[in-house]
Formats: sequence, structure tokens, C-alpha cells
Amino acid sequence: MAHLLITGGAGFIGSHTCLTLLEAGHSLVVIDNFEGSSPEPLHQVAALAGLGPLEQLATGLWGTPDEPRQLLLLQGDIRSSSDLERAFNSSSTAAVEAVLHFAGLKAVAESIAEPLRYWDTNVAGSRCLLQAMATQGCRTLVFSSSATLYGLPDSVPIAESAPVRPINPYGHTKAAVEQMLADLAANQEGWRMARLRYFNPVGAHPSGCLGEAPFGQPSNLFPLINLVAQGQKPCLKIYGLDWPTADGTGVRDYIHVMDLAEGHRAAVQRLMNDPPQLLTLNLGTGKGHSVLELVRVFEKVTGRPVAWEGVERRPGDSACSIADPSLAQEVLGWATSHSLEDMCRDGWRWQVSHPHGY
Ligand code: UD1
Repeated sequence: MAHLLITGGAGFIGSHTCLTLLEAGHSLVVIDNFEGSSPEPLHQVAALAGLGPLEQLATGLWGTPDEPRQLLLLQGDIRSSSDLERAFNSSSTAAVEAVLHFAGLKAVAESIAEPLRYWDTNVAGSRCLLQAMATQGCRTLVFSSSATLYGLPDSVPIAESAPVRPINPYGHTKAAVEQMLADLAANQEGWRMARLRYFNPVGAHPSGCLGEAPFGQPSNLFPLINLVAQGQKPCLKIYGLDWPTADGTGVRDYIHVMDLAEGHRAAVQRLMNDPPQLLTLNLGTGKGHSVLELVRVFEKVTGRPVAWEGVERRPGDSACSIADPSLAQEVLGWATSHSLEDMCRDGWRWQVSHPHGY
């Protein structure tokens, strides 16, 4: 079992993956600046993993002392080489074997308003992390990439060989980091890396103790459906009823966050066991669902009505985005196991117990 560094481990996907990795027996050190999150999910992760409570340690970190599986937490920034050095040297007994890199900004509209901030955090931050990894002699990395790279796809399902054509600054930053990893893989020996391209992650841990807690106004469909169902928002605005899809609304490949977490576990273990390589893998279900289908399944599962109205299309949206996940299935021996009903049920359980986030 390995000692792993998790950047952005307090975020939505990072926190669920931390739990899956701890349950698989790994020890973790998390670095997070809490810009879009809080330490609370990691307290929940420790409890769900059956570890003792996170306590402040003499080193200034938080952690679970006296546990064979450690969870350590450092408030720090991936753009700071000294913060990264502390993270790499956080355990007195084990060196970091691999890094799972979730830290980054992810709101498309914000990236259009503040492109330099996105290049700084997502690209300069990743470069700083890679430099620290090289210095520390750790060359195994799982990177959070995104299906946003495919822009407006020519056809679906989308294979990894489809052209990379991002259409906003957020997507450009993900493409730039993907290129940085490709340059390392092509020119330096020993790097083991996976670029995981997520489709649309939704849902929550089935306990209802971990979930998505966006800071500020959410812009993604699933959190908005939950807010409308709970009465925190009057009505869902559906961006376009005239798309070339079966019911006229946009189609996406929604994936349960626990399936995504399991994909990360499989990827990091594969990298640690195999010779150096660069993997590029779609993580999706291979099934598409329209906005109206998601609304109807959500209403059926939760028994709550979701009021909606059709409005203009959102600039930059595509009609349809569906993964071809066959390469990830083949390479990782991984497959999704949660249905759209599970995503709605688990997401709603989280929403009901945490109406205002953590
Ligand atoms: C969006 C981003 C994408 C990013 C992903 C994860 C855009 C154009 N794309 O993907 O780059 O990687 O989030 O953060 O922002 N919808 C509505 N009403 C709403 C919100 C969404 O009808 O209020 C529709 C959209 O038109 C789309 C579907 O719901 O058809 C899903 O939207 P969303 O959850 O925002 O995800 P993406 O647009 O796929």
C-alpha cells in the first residue's frame, strides 16, 4: 500500500477519491488551499474511513495519529514550492509514491472573465507541482482532465483520439497541462502518468455525508436541479429546447462521483504497477441523458417536482457529449456501476442533509 499526495483533496471529486483510496488501504497527504472548499469534507472522509478524528499535529499539519493508514492534511498552495516540499516530506516513515492532482479552478464563465487567474492556478500551479515531483524523485501522476477538451465534438460517442479543440479559457488550461505531461513523457524517462478526461460528474457518497458544495452560485445542471427541488430556487432554466436531440434538450454523459473515484484508484494502481507510460482515458458511462430525462428521473426518485422553463441556448454548449469509455474499461479493468437513479438518489440525500453545503 502506498503513500499518496492528493492536491485539491477537499473538493468534490478529490474528497470522494480520498475516501476510496483510504478504503483501498493507501495513506494520504492532502494539500488544499481551501479557495473553493473547506476542511470539513476531510473530517467526514476520516470518519467514513473508520479513522480517528483529524487533530492538529506538532508539525502544523492536521492528521490522524496512531493509525496504520494515515490521512494528513496541509493547508497550502500548489503554486508554492515550499508548501509542496512540506507536503512531500509530511510523513516521517514513507516517501510519496504517486500524486493525484485535482487542485484547480473549473468554472467556465469565471475563466472567460479572469483568464489569467485560470492560467496561473491551473497551468502555473501544475508546472510548479511537476517541478516539485521531479525534485523529489516522484514521477507518477494522475491528472484531472476534462471532456471540455473536446469542445463541440463532430460525433458521439467521443473516443480519446477525437481532436482536442477547447472553446474557452478553462478548456485551454486543461489542454495546456495535458501537453505539458505529453512533453515530459516524450522527453524524460520514468514518468508514469494518466490524463483522465471526466464527463459530467454528479451524485454524492451514499452516506449523505460527502457531496458537492459549490461556493457561490452553481452553474452546473445537477446542483441546480437539487436547489429547485428543495425550494431554494424557483425554477430551472433549460438552455434550449431546440437542440437536434430526441426531446430537444442537451444530452450529457452523467457519471456517479463514486464511479469516478474508483476510476482514479484503478488508474493510480495501474501506473504504480506498470512500466512508465502516458495514459489518456475517458471516464464516463457511455450513456447519454437529456436535461429533461434527468429532470424526470430526479422527480421520480425523489418525489419532488422540479419546475422548469425553456430559455435561450447557453453560448458554448454542444447538443450532445457522450464518452466512449471502452479504453478505460480495457486498460483499467474498470466499469461504472451506478445508474442515473443512483446519482439522483444519492445526490438528493446529500442535498437534504446539507442544504447549504458543509
Ligand atoms: C460544463 C462546462 C464544462 C465543464 C463542466 C464541469 C460549459 C459550456 N461547459 O459542462 O466545460 O467541464 O461543466 O464543470 O459551461 N443546463 C441547463 N440549465 C442550467 C445548466 C445546464 O439547461 O441551468 C444544461 C446544459 O445546457 C447542458 C446540461 O444541462 O446541456 C449540462 O450542463 P452542465 O451541468 O453545466 O455541464 P456541461 O455544460 O456539460
